[in-house]
Amino acid sequence: MSEQKSDFGLMLNEEMYGKLYQQSINEPTIFWAEQAERFITWYQSWHTVSDSDFNQGKVNWFNGAKLNACYNCVDRHLPQYANRIAILWEGDNSQRRQAITYQMLYERVCRFANSLKSLGVAKGDSVCLYMPMIPDAVVAMLACARIGAVHTVVFGGFSPHALAERLQNAKCKVVITADEGVRAHKAIPLKKNVDEALTRVKVRKVIVIKNTGHSVPMQQQRDVWYHTLVRNQEFNCEPEAMDAEDPLFILYTSGSTGKPKGLVHTTGGYLLYAAITFRYVFDYKEQDIYWCTADIGWITGHSYGVYGPLANHATMVMYEGVITSPPNIAWEIIDRYNVSVFYTAPTAIRALMAFGDEPLNSTKRNSLRLLGTVGEPINPEAWQWYHDKVGFGRCWIVDTWWQTETGGIMIVPFAGIGKPKPGAACKPFFGIKPRVVDAQGNDVLPQQTGFLTITQSWPGQARTIYGNHERFLKGYFGQYGGLYFTGDGAYQDSNGDYWITGRVDDVINVAGHRLGTAEIESALVKHQAVAEAAVIGVPHPVKGESVYAFVSLVAGKQWSPKLIPELQQMVTDSIGKLAMPEQIEYVNKLPKTRSGKIMRRLLRNVVTGEFDKIGDISTLAEPEVLDQLKAAHAKGKIQQGGSK
Ligand code: PRX
Repeated sequence: MSEQKSDFGLMLNEEMYGKLYQQSINEPTIFWAEQAERFITWYQSWHTVSDSDFNQGKVNWFNGAKLNACYNCVDRHLPQYANRIAILWEGDNSQRRQAITYQMLYERVCRFANSLKSLGVAKGDSVCLYMPMIPDAVVAMLACARIGAVHTVVFGGFSPHALAERLQNAKCKVVITADEGVRAHKAIPLKKNVDEALTRVKVRKVIVIKNTGHSVPMQQQRDVWYHTLVRNQEFNCEPEAMDAEDPLFILYTSGSTGKPKGLVHTTGGYLLYAAITFRYVFDYKEQDIYWCTADIGWITGHSYGVYGPLANHATMVMYEGVITSPPNIAWEIIDRYNVSVFYTAPTAIRALMAFGDEPLNSTKRNSLRLLGTVGEPINPEAWQWYHDKVGFGRCWIVDTWWQTETGGIMIVPFAGIGKPKPGAACKPFFGIKPRVVDAQGNDVLPQQTGFLTITQSWPGQARTIYGNHERFLKGYFGQYGGLYFTGDGAYQDSNGDYWITGRVDDVINVAGHRLGTAEIESALVKHQAVAEAAVIGVPHPVKGESVYAFVSLVAGKQWSPKLIPELQQMVTDSIGKLAMPEQIEYVNKLPKTRSGKIMRRLLRNVVTGEFDKIGDISTLAEPEVLDQLKAAHAKGKIQQGGSK
């Protein structure tokens, strides 16, 4: 492997990391108080840094303190950085472009905030964003934060049904959307989807941003064009002083049960954690141009596409389209804006790798110095290609492990520390104390895989699941007393570095998107012919995993391949295309334990042909069901189908 070089001189080295890490673990109160002073401007200081207690699932930080997240991301930079570019935006066709300075961002945010106020939106109200990747999306998030409204961003790829579910759960008063989004030259009918969602749930107002200019029907009492609304709004809006523990946003993610959960992140702790992790993990320097490709609908888009970089007065690139279409667009954008820090997902790296080196060869990428990945395990081939070809062997690769729940990066191979280990998550961030345990909660030995838990609180962690604190306590703190359970497996190597082995619950990761198998199964069983469904993730060369569904039919119904598109459509309608099963297999019966639980582990072994890994089947109720499945797969006699 080539030696790591950097032109800038890195922020951390092994010794500094060690010192800071020890302090953060041994004296967390002192460490976090110092960092909170450094990274955040507070209106009022805290009386307690934290009195969190994982035994009770209690998490709080900076009680008594007051701040405003938008003020910290915009206003406070103005004296020094008013003319610095905050957002370099490029539209899907690369023809539309905007460069937005911090001063311009301030004015746009204030006017958006005043627009929200004019519609009666007040502190504590939930506002939903169902938006394309345009600057107005960032502006709208910050405008909510400015007036103390709680934003809940729903990814534009979710279906009207999924949007309605989230609107209802979060009790949203207002939806902010656009006429259409555009991705890979395809229009996404956002307003139309909102209209459909609103046949199931009511909101007071829908604010529509003109993006493509495509004409969309407007409902007179309910819908309002943003360009009309903003016309008479003032350029100043006083930021609301929020308690550190006031919610900043709700973000939905999938768990192992059927209903998505709305994780609640708070203003003080979250913002501090996003800001400090951004600074250290991306080794952020004043001269950097930073680009995170994640959509704002995901936690990565929140923490590292909005709050982390803006709290650090960074200049960031925002791209409306998909970075794999056309194949050289990512590299062209890097050259066009001199991007020095690039953060994307392994699935995108694999897709770009599949185009070969030709798109790379037409660009220079001289500006790159640090490359990041997030969202799923990166396979060594993709890591190597990213390192050798994209970064010419001279960029650090930071493979960041974290979750919607953690608010920010938790385990990471810091630039400047140790030797690169493709695929390893490596070292915990400051204040993060992981523990790998067995099913009884006992420590496992190095090299042995166990369940990844975290032993002490950190400011960025979610405080609850909106409207269901019980589920929060049970799911995260109920398994191993006094520990936060991540849902991931992991092991430590002989140097103490962490390696993530993937989810150990019924959550799958498809193209970096986290999906609950139960959600997909619920969608499939809505079909009148389906009796039962079981969904698993199977290895996929680009997406990491793809959705594979097994269905059994109600008595009297005949299997026909015609059912496959119907079933795929059920899932697309219920969740979105991102969750659509690529393959659907008809089975007579599903393998179940004696207590009636579907044994998805066996289904995975059958599909991947790893019969030798089937292991313990002592709890399997009808072994002949498994035998039949194995026989069918061994002979390739599977009644399945779907798009590959
Ligand atoms: O299984 C882990 C995987 O993604 C899960 C979290 O998904 P989500 O909440 O959608 O957040 C994704 C973006 C932070 C984790 O439980 N995961 C995330 N990053 C990595 C990863 N698995 C391996 N390596 C990673 N770097």
